[in-house]
Formats: sequence, structure tokens, C-alpha cells
Amino acid sequence: METEKTGAAVELARGVYWVGAIDWNGRDFHGFAIPDGTTYNSYLITGEKTALIDTVKTPFAGEMLGRISQVIDPSKLDYIVVNHMELDHTGSLAELKKVTDAKIFITRRGVDILNGYFRDSGSENWNLEIVKTGDELDLGGKTLMFLEATMLHWPDSMETFLKEDRILFSNDGFGQHVATSKRYDFEAGDALPYAAEYYANILMPFHMPLLRFLGLLDKLGIEPLQIAPSHGIIWKQDLKKILDAYRAWANGEVKEKVLVIYDTMWGSTEIMANEIAEAVRADGVEVKLLNLRKNSRSHIMKEMLDAAAFAVGSPTLNNGLFPTVGDFLVYLKGLRPQKKKAMAFGSYGWGGGAVKAIEQELKNSGIEVLGPGLQVRYRPYGRELERCRKLGEQLAAVAKRQ
Ligand code: FEO
Repeated sequence: METEKTGAAVELARGVYWVGAIDWNGRDFHGFAIPDGTTYNSYLITGEKTALIDTVKTPFAGEMLGRISQVIDPSKLDYIVVNHMELDHTGSLAELKKVTDAKIFITRRGVDILNGYFRDSGSENWNLEIVKTGDELDLGGKTLMFLEATMLHWPDSMETFLKEDRILFSNDGFGQHVATSKRYDFEAGDALPYAAEYYANILMPFHMPLLRFLGLLDKLGIEPLQIAPSHGIIWKQDLKKILDAYRAWANGEVKEKVLVIYDTMWGSTEIMANEIAEAVRADGVEVKLLNLRKNSRSHIMKEMLDAAAFAVGSPTLNNGLFPTVGDFLVYLKGLRPQKKKAMAFGSYGWGGGAVKAIEQELKNSGIEVLGPGLQVRYRPYGRELERCRKLGEQLAAVAKRQ
């Protein structure tokens, strides 16, 4: 095993190397806040033939090629496995194809996306082989089995299983956005919170395809010794922990937990939010108070993953939602969290409108709305504060019934 240090290829099993890149300074992943950076993991498998599983984001092509060069001459690479065409995994494909004419293994749905992004680089003349679940590539001493993972999270997504070493190269599945010089769970510290945030922001809408994929692993008797995703650390010691967590998340398991998510203009909606949260706490239920200008929507969605219920609060601005609340609700609708119940609240001056708009957006997201929402004019005082506390008690009761 080679000494692990940034810059080195890392041997994960005999003839199997991590040759990816570490994005220490990445802070935004197409809108997903990644305060601790990320990695783009590529893996080199060397049998009698050689295969590279996935590449890295474009600016990191040199870093990846440098690591490959420590093991083999990149021009001698025989095969490239494209598990998924999103550009954080294929951004270096054109650069790589300048030095090698390696044959590409890809799903049928991936081909259209490949040509969509790489026609300018001559992709229509690249040597491709379309693969499907159960197809195998014999490298001589190493056998890769392809497993389609349709809609996890793109139509083309696929995972690849190295049979001899029982390593599942899971692409976005089981990933985490964290930059670390360590490659394994047992040396990097607890990666589960990063995996939860990744799941909540990338995979949450696809719980049914995920359950089908986990079922496929069972059906094929695939029991990995390592799960090597394309972002973050590799799971080896905590395999059961991450697999159990994925099953729980995909099944929409929640706990006695309530979120109070809000923004405020002149403090009134914040007073309401505090009062609601305090009533939830007083009833013995875990509560998190999340100001939309102090918390990224990615972080809020991680907290949403195991929350049973939540409240969304907005002041009325120009007869509608406060912009941060609108932004959050659009994001929430895309991620379609399951088995949640929610309420709306907010303050207004004359016309009102924010509370109704929140309720409409929640309904559009498939979330059960516990009505009616609470709207307070200017400032909440005695009777209005009491109504806030009742709303908090109602949320706590819903959480306890889960
Ligand atoms: Fe890590 Fe779907 O890209």
C-alpha cells in the first residue's frame, strides 16, 4: 500500500487505485453549499488490461492524469467506464481522450448525454460499448460487473462492481461532499452527517429507484467489502451503518423532530418563530430554529431528512413571499421530501398573502398542510403569541404520533 498523502495514487486493493482529485476550495456545487469542499473520485483497475472508472471535473484533469501516471502511462489505458455523464465525473473525458483512444463503457441513456456535451470533442467517433445490468468486462484477473442505477440520480446512472475484490464503485450513491486527505471512513472521522446532507440534496427525490437498486444488490447476492463513491470517503468500516442509513432515508423514516424555518423583515415573524419553537421544546420534542439568511438551504434539507413536521414562516412583501422563503420553497418542491407535515405562519401589514402562498407551495410539493396557517398583523402580542404556542403544540403532537 502506498503512503497516503495528497498527490499520491492510493492503492485500495491489489491493483486497484484511487486516482481522483481533491477540491479543497469548492464551496458551491450547482447551488448545494459545500463548506468543507469535495472530492471527485476516479478509480484505476489494473488486470492484464486496465480500466479507469469515472474521471473528474474539468479543472482537475491534470491532477487525475498525474495520479494515473504514477501507476500506468495514461496513453496505455484500455478502457474507461462512464458510470454517469454529469460533468463533475466526465469533465476530464475530452482531455483524457487526447492521450488515449481507450474504449468507453456506458449505458444506452448515457450515449445521448455524452454526445450532448462532447460532440465538439468528436464524441460521435469515440469507440463506445453500451452496457446493461449484469454485463461484465474481463480485465484478466479483475472482472467488472455493470449495474444500471437508473434515476440515481440521472437517467444514465450506473454503478460498477469489481467482483474479485468486492468493491462497489457507486458513483453518486453513498457520496459525501467533503475534502479530506484521507480516503477511508475509519481514518477520516464520521462521514455520516456529510452523507445525510448529500442524500437530502441530491438523492431525496429518488427513493423508489434507490429501493429498487438496493433490491437488485440483494437479488444478485452482491455484498461489497468496500463502497467507493465518486465523492468523499470510501466506506469500509461503516458499511452497515451507511447501508442502514440509506434504507431508512429511502423509506422516509422520521423521528420526533420539528423544524421552524423562517425569514423576517422587522422581527415579527422571528418573534412568532421563537414562540412556536419554544412550545415544541416545552412539549419534549427536538426542535431546530432555522433562519433562511443564516442557514444554507442545503443544510436545512439535511435537517429535513429525519424531521416529522415543520413550519415555514414569511413576512408578506409586495403581497407575496419574502424572496428567501420563495427560494427555499422552490428548492423544497424539487426535492419532494416524503412523509412530512407542515404549517405556515407569518406577519403582514395590510394586504397579506405570504401565508397563503406558503400553503400553496407546500401543497404543490406533496406535503400535507396542517391548516389553517397563522397570519399576524404588524406585531404578535398576547393573544397572537398564544396562537403561536398552540401551533407549536400541534406540531409537537404530530411529531410524537410518527
Ligand atoms: Fe456527482 Fe450527478 O454528479
